[in-house]
Amino acid sequence: MKAVFFEKLGGADVLQYGEFPQPKAQSGETLVRVKACGVNHLDIWLRHRTNTPLPHIPGSDVAGVVEKINGQGEFHVGDEVVINPAIPCGRCARCQKGQPCELVRIFGAATHGGYAEYVVVPITQLHPKPKNLSFTEAAAFPLTFLTAWHMLVSRAQLVRGESVFIWGASGGLGMAAIQIAQHLGGRIIAAAKSQDMAKKIRKHGVDDVIVYTEEDVVGRVNSLTSGYGVDVVFESIGQKTWNQSLAMLRPYGRAVIAGTTSGNEATMDLSDLYVRQLSIFGARMGTKSEFEDVLKLVGERKLQPKVDSVFSLSDTAKAQERMEKGEHVGKIVLEI
Ligand SMILES: NC(=O)c1ccc[n+]([C@@H]2O[C@H](COP(=O)([O-])OP(=O)(O)OC[C@H]3O[C@@H](n4cnc5c(N)ncnc54)[C@H](OP(=O)(O)O)[C@@H]3O)[C@@H](O)[C@H]2O)c1
Ligand SMILES: [Zn+2]
Repeated sequence: MKAVFFEKLGGADVLQYGEFPQPKAQSGETLVRVKACGVNHLDIWLRHRTNTPLPHIPGSDVAGVVEKINGQGEFHVGDEVVINPAIPCGRCARCQKGQPCELVRIFGAATHGGYAEYVVVPITQLHPKPKNLSFTEAAAFPLTFLTAWHMLVSRAQLVRGESVFIWGASGGLGMAAIQIAQHLGGRIIAAAKSQDMAKKIRKHGVDDVIVYTEEDVVGRVNSLTSGYGVDVVFESIGQKTWNQSLAMLRPYGRAVIAGTTSGNEATMDLSDLYVRQLSIFGARMGTKSEFEDVLKLVGERKLQPKVDSVFSLSDTAKAQERMEKGEHVGKIVLEI
């Protein structure tokens, strides 16, 4: 089959487009013909550092058609499906209680992924593709919407009328957060790197945008919230923004973090945590039932994945370069 893979770590130039052995579905697995695959920042991290054996095919967000099934279940050959990229171990104490798995693996990181004509996944990861969504739209939501949902609904528990500040608002995760925060009735303040990007983000229905390269972010948040600060900060940037994130929280505020795009190191004043009674939540993907909640709302168009651009599989390096330069708004998708 045709696939995009890398045999050594490095820049986008290590991505090779060529022939790769087609995977075989083992017992309990299904072979899916990939129609579209979303690009995630994760795919870029992987070619810089991974413990996965090389060569590796990335790609966590797959929409496609069932080609073979090696086991029981509700799906048949020819069904249009999306893949839940959060693969739980099924055995740990938390899995037994239906909670997020302690040992969850990411499809496309721990396994070969969807930058290919075919993928193999456990049958339990399959979900029906909403009929009113194209394959491209269906490949533009799984990882980011599942994670953003887990962050805002389950971890930070944002509720109607509360304010949320979203870093990385133009990115895949950030755009998902905007949609979900709107759905929850939150008041949204988004970060943008330029006036031009601010204009694009404003179109997606946020209440306010702060250009973090030009403005005093914490000061603006304070003036927009009558001096109180926000209830929730949505973090995926890390090192460069963490201190501002904590500083803009009101007492009893919650910071929820799922990524460290700018780096992992941060220092903080611990007294701040107890004096202002702040909470910090980490988040990594979500549960099967959270995926089903998101899928239902996406199917009803109450949550709408935003497709920034579409590339062919042979142009994957260009797609990743667009992401690395931060030119995108929403999801970049590969059509296969
Ligand atoms: N834990 C999980 O389960 C999980 C799931 C999905 C994603 N993630 C992580 O979340 C992060 C975002 O993923 P993604 O796929 O949404 O990536 P993406 O589409 O590339 O979005 C990243 C966004 O971060 C912003 N950004 C980058 N550097 C910044 C800086 N120094 N200061 C402020 N903003 C900056 C960029 O927007 P501007 O340049 O316009 O500000 C960009 O839109 C990644 O680190 C990813 O690994 C984690
Ligand atoms: Zn588990």
